[in-house]
Amino acid sequence: MEQYLIRGGNPLVGTVKIGGAKNSALGILAAAIMSDEKVTIRNLPDVNDIHIFLKAIKSIGAEVEYPDPNDCHVVTICGKNIFTHEIDNDYIRKIRASYYLIGALLGKYGEAGVALPGGCNIGARPIDQHQKGFRALGARVWIDRGMIFTKAEKLTGRHIYLDVVSVGATINIMLAASMAEGTTIIENAAREPHVVDVAQLLTKMGADIRGAGTDRIKINGVKKFHAADHEIIPDQIEAGTFMCAAAATMGDVTVTHVIPQHLEAVSAKLMDMGAQVDENGDSIRVAVTNRLQPTTIKTMPHPGFPTDMQAQFAVCLALAEGSSLVTEKIFENRFKYTDELIKMGANIRVEGNTAFITGVDKLTGATVSAPDLRAGAALVIAGLAAEGCTCVENIHFIQRGYEAFAQKLRSLGGDIRKVDVDSDSERDRMLSRLAMIS
Ligand code: UD1
Repeated sequence: MEQYLIRGGNPLVGTVKIGGAKNSALGILAAAIMSDEKVTIRNLPDVNDIHIFLKAIKSIGAEVEYPDPNDCHVVTICGKNIFTHEIDNDYIRKIRASYYLIGALLGKYGEAGVALPGGCNIGARPIDQHQKGFRALGARVWIDRGMIFTKAEKLTGRHIYLDVVSVGATINIMLAASMAEGTTIIENAAREPHVVDVAQLLTKMGADIRGAGTDRIKINGVKKFHAADHEIIPDQIEAGTFMCAAAATMGDVTVTHVIPQHLEAVSAKLMDMGAQVDENGDSIRVAVTNRLQPTTIKTMPHPGFPTDMQAQFAVCLALAEGSSLVTEKIFENRFKYTDELIKMGANIRVEGNTAFITGVDKLTGATVSAPDLRAGAALVIAGLAAEGCTCVENIHFIQRGYEAFAQKLRSLGGDIRKVDVDSDSERDRMLSRLAMIS
């Protein structure tokens, strides 16, 4: 099993280039299959969720080509020869965003059958709002054999009010509605940058979408999409993760190729905590010279503080000078990593959806297990900031969403290596050898 072995204590210093947004890319790839002409996607992140998604669309007949076979960050997609509207296989069940294929296939062909989504276990993740949207557009929706099916004689634009702000439901309804007859209005829509990114690609393909990025999106359906060329926005969560890694290790890191506006909640919170945060064009520098200060965090839909950054900040706060509160308002099961941080010496008590964190002088290395993607990245940050050696297990979660994570951290001076070990005893031998080097 692949694991990260980390020898903590080095402040991260240097510059790191941020890749394309994974969550955006998943919606964008789904949108791309709706055209029968070639759609070129640039800045595609080289992460497992994307490879899985590409395999899934290939399995139904979409053509996926790399113009430069040595560069998997640019891909062309053509949905002309899609021969089935049902997708059910082991890999598609692993990722949450498989649900975007429902909206895309329903919009284009009037029917879809997709294995029910997997993804990170961070709480109940219903898709009732997606279903509500498809039904409002005139589709029947039913669940059978672990799959969600939907079928419509004709999709008709409607006024849809989302009961909860959902990124997935907003994008999914937007995909289906972009080929419906007439006008759809999505009220209480999610405003995340990736909603805007997907809307921009659809618009380049010929869709008529207004208001993406606000809570009211208006879509006039069109009959057909054409070729397009689109560059995916930078991954604000990857950027935020490196910004937290800089803060937790009391380092000095510049993230480049980012859109600072997308990171405002993250930058503001780091400044509250005493970090120096400087924006310069498409870069942000985070430098920390004094011990971090405590703060209060409450996760909210965009433009509020992102739930996907909650765990990484908790690691910073575990080392801050005083007591902090972190309240999770989006997912109910997103504190599983706190038990792992406690093994490293953190002082955290979780009650309901709030974590009470009292900063400690130092964390110490331990063997911990990544419970999900973002929490896994947080544990890596903890290992880099801790005294001694840490092993992070279950890194397949982290590889779902971070491209070349260990290499990028190493380029900043982090002592982290990926190892493939068959047993706990082999892992322990490696850890003690690493400890001896220090
Ligand atoms: C997306 C992101 C994920 C991020 C989350 C919130 C992708 C692939 N994943 O997930 O990284 O953490 O946004 O920013 O982009 N809900 C319902 N019914 C629904 C849909 C959602 O009740 O039909 C609830 C969820 O349980 C959750 C909240 O709405 O409490 C937000 O979920 P949503 O925005 O849909 O998250 P995802 O799109 O799954």
